Amino acid sequence: MTTIKRMTRREALKNLGLLATGAFLLGSSNVLTSCSSDNGKKRIVFYFTGSGNSLYVAKHLSEKPLSIPQVLQGDQFEFEADEIGFVFPDYQGRAPSIVQEFAQKVKLKANYMFTVITYG
Ligand SMILES: Cc1cc2nc3c(=O)[nH]c(=O)nc-3n(C[C@H](O)[C@H](O)[C@H](O)COP(=O)(O)O)c2cc1C
Repeated sequence: MTTIKRMTRREALKNLGLLATGAFLLGSSNVLTSCSSDNGKKRIVFYFTGSGNSLYVAKHLSEKPLSIPQVLQGDQFEFEADEIGFVFPDYQGRAPSIVQEFAQKVKLKANYMFTVITYG
């Protein structure tokens, strides 16, 4: 079973800041969009979005982010990549219930895992 460690708002802001700073320092936001090919590493990004913000972020992290509701409707629940990420909104300090359901159901194998939480 895979669980997502809950992140404080301070940690989420810090991570978002680091991401933005890194992209800025490298001089191009392409560093975010070409992540699955530029460094030769395979990255899978799962996202859940209600109003589009998390999808917007997910698309900067992967050319083809995977919708959590769509993956849940399918029959593949095991994924392996060099990097696996989650993008979803903050719902009152928690991950949306469908994200929690997904995290409990899916089996993931990756050397590096990350989460980006969007918030209002
Ligand atoms: C049910 C619900 C609960 C939310 N709770 C919070 C919250 O506690 N704190 C916050 O900053 N934003 C909160 N938001 C705002 C969302 O986290 C924010 O708008 C997010 O970017 C939405 O992402 P999305 O467009 O991918 O759905 C909440 C939104 C919803 C719909």
